[in-house]
Amino acid sequence: MSVPIPIKRVAVIGAGLAGAIAVDALAQENTFDLIRVFERREGLGGCRIGDTSRPPTISDLSILANRTADPPIPIPENLPAQTPKLDQPRFAESSVYPYLETNVDNTAMEFTQESIPEERSEWSIATHGPNTPFRHWKVMRQYVSSLLERNGYQDFVSYNTIVERVEKVGAEWKWFDAVVVVSGYYWVPYIPAIEGLEQFEKSRPGSVLHSKHFRGRDLFRGKRVVIVGASVSAADIAVDLASTKTADLPVHAIVKGHNTNVYFGDIAFQQTQIKTHPSNSHIAGRTVHLIDGNSIPEVDHIIFGTGYSWTLPLPPPGSQRAILAAGLIARQSQPSSSLSKGATIGLGVGLTVGALLLIFGGCFITECLRRKGKMKGEPQPYLSVGDAYPGAS
Ligand SMILES: Cc1cc2nc3c(=O)[nH]c(=O)nc-3n(C[C@H](O)[C@H](O)[C@H](O)COP(=O)(O)OP(=O)(O)OC[C@H]3O[C@@H](n4cnc5c(N)ncnc54)[C@H](O)[C@@H]3O)c2cc1C
Ligand SMILES: NC(=O)c1ccc[n+]([C@@H]2O[C@H](COP(=O)([O-])OP(=O)(O)OC[C@H]3O[C@@H](n4cnc5c(N)ncnc54)[C@H](OP(=O)(O)O)[C@@H]3O)[C@@H](O)[C@H]2O)c1
Repeated sequence: MSVPIPIKRVAVIGAGLAGAIAVDALAQENTFDLIRVFERREGLGGCRIGDTSRPPTISDLSILANRTADPPIPIPENLPAQTPKLDQPRFAESSVYPYLETNVDNTAMEFTQESIPEERSEWSIATHGPNTPFRHWKVMRQYVSSLLERNGYQDFVSYNTIVERVEKVGAEWKWFDAVVVVSGYYWVPYIPAIEGLEQFEKSRPGSVLHSKHFRGRDLFRGKRVVIVGASVSAADIAVDLASTKTADLPVHAIVKGHNTNVYFGDIAFQQTQIKTHPSNSHIAGRTVHLIDGNSIPEVDHIIFGTGYSWTLPLPPPGSQRAILAAGLIARQSQPSSSLSKGATIGLGVGLTVGALLLIFGGCFITECLRRKGKMKGEPQPYLSVGDAYPGAS
């Protein structure tokens, strides 16, 4: 029987909403000697850090289409080292735009021990009434910060620090016993391959955008816009451009036949200023051709609300362990691999009703680690995520 490694030193990768609650839960256990958070951005907030610069125009559509846009980056020979800002999509700015609001009721999003502040925007009150349950992104960023700052946890965080590889050195995970991966899900845009799209972009650079690049309606004043995707990002942008009559009307939405968000359905697209269409077949010049034989001529912009590619460069090359975002279940493809012998817990967090489940995720991780922390010296079988979830194999 193997002797478990006591968990005393924990590294957390990511200081977004999930990272904040994980740190809070870990700290409250009073079991760990060291909790250290590594965050590649300059501050707290994760995908709710509001960047104002417009991300660069898309230079390589093929790598976004085949989901290879985010390979591991070379690690400098001597560490620590400072590297110039990289232009891989994960390092490009967040998908926040100035007037982005939450789309989930705050009571479903907030953590038990910390309420989301009652601050409501004028827009939200005007749209949803005086008790609107939605919040501006700045309130949510502040919420993440307060989770960490109120107990002095901000000192646990190293900013501008990228974790690019996690590996075991000899018998230990140098210099941690466990790693909690809460690195987010919505960083690398996915744009499907469409015949003629590259020429469309090249003929007028900046005319193809992903929802991550949307910085507000002003750019689209009087423009003919096609929005691709049937879920939340596409709906938010289509409704914004249509209801404010900013873009040329109707706004065209490629929705039919595609998966809508399970929570919201397609109701947002059901308004006269939005014309819904089935998939595109190809693009020729500035005309978007559709699979039903119809076409949309003289298109200025195509905005893809087609979701993201989840990437995780952290497992060392050759590792047999696959860390998959499947709810909160991490599957271990080979329980005896070197990674699973250590104490790395990989948690892919890609959740639609993110916060509601993230509290569970944060506490779940903590419970796993706490048990390991208190098992010091006792010969016990390793507790893995798969052990706790009998369904995971
Ligand atoms: C535009 C948009 C709006 C959303 N609105 C809502 C909403 O209203 N309600 C809702 O429930 N969900 C919403 N979501 C889903 C959202 O992803 C979750 O609510 C939640 O904020 C995700 O938190 P997270 O901590 O998992 O990830 P993130 O907020 O993405 O944080 C991950 C952090 O990890 C850091 N990081 C990643 N890799 C590394 C590395 N290798 N080294 C160091 N640091 C790293 C990142 O810089 C980032 O700060 C929205 C998503 C998007 C894109
Ligand atoms: N206001 C807010 O709070 C807000 C705003 C934006 C996003 N979000 C959150 O961000 C997360 C991501 O949402 P998202 O909308 O960006 O991504 P998403 O939920 O992954 O949706 C992607 C959409 O693109 C469609 N799609 C994919 N390939 C396509 C193709 N080739 N042609 C046409 N459509 C295609 C998908 O349908 P098929 O799979 O059928 O192809 C789906 O409808 C969610 O959690 C969401 O709640 C929140």
